[in-house]
Amino acid sequence: MFKNLLKSTLASAFLICGMSTVGLAQDAAQYDVEGQLKLPTDYREWVFVGANTSPHELNDGKAPFNEMRAIYIDRAGYDFWKTNGTFKDGTFLIKEVMSATRYEGTTGNGYAAGDIVALAAMVKDSTRFAEDAGQWGFFRFPKLKDSKYFAKTSEQYAEDRCSYCHVAAASETDMVFLEHYPVLRDAQGTGRSGVPMKAD
Ligand code: HEC
Repeated sequence: MFKNLLKSTLASAFLICGMSTVGLAQDAAQYDVEGQLKLPTDYREWVFVGANTSPHELNDGKAPFNEMRAIYIDRAGYDFWKTNGTFKDGTFLIKEVMSATRYEGTTGNGYAAGDIVALAAMVKDSTRFAEDAGQWGFFRFPKLKDSKYFAKTSEQYAEDRCSYCHVAAASETDMVFLEHYPVLRDAQGTGRSGVPMKAD
């Protein structure tokens, strides 16, 4: 009797522990009490999807944004994209904006990333951003003035600062500039990662 009771108590304890572990699987997007988006500390462990640059030299000496960019997507957002080919609620994209520097190197003259200047972010959420274009919220975490540190949180940026441009130029691909992201293009709805390969 006592043994059985002990067994079932232990079983429920494990069940509860198990359940709470499942409950801990949090969305990548977390907000503080004021509703500001928190900058994830581990986004460099997410999936890297692509990079691009638009230097002065290719823009008549004055690029609108002389920068290099590296874009990441959160793991759950990537998994869903890979399987279903669409961006699910909770998908979180981060663009590292870096200065573009010229160098002369052993593989030729080139452009390399300098320092990180700011982080731009997009989160898809049909509840929180129900009224926003594509149901994406836009955010930006700048480097703090005279500091090596970045802002930890960001308010949502208005349409006339961010999303209008994504609506104008990327509305056919759910406001994401897919043409720059081979990792996403290759994986879209295929259930696989990596470069395409012939089936055996
Ligand atoms: C002038 C047009 C324009 C404006 C304004 C703009 N973006 Fe973008 N955004 C782009 C383009 C083009 C890309 C593709 C990468 C690149 O070239 O920068 C991009 C890429 C991104 C990405 C990577 C995912 C994607 O959609 O391709 C994020 C995140 C992002 N922008 C956030 C922002 C935020 C936040 C703001 C406002 C602070 C903003 N953008 C304002 C044009 C714009």
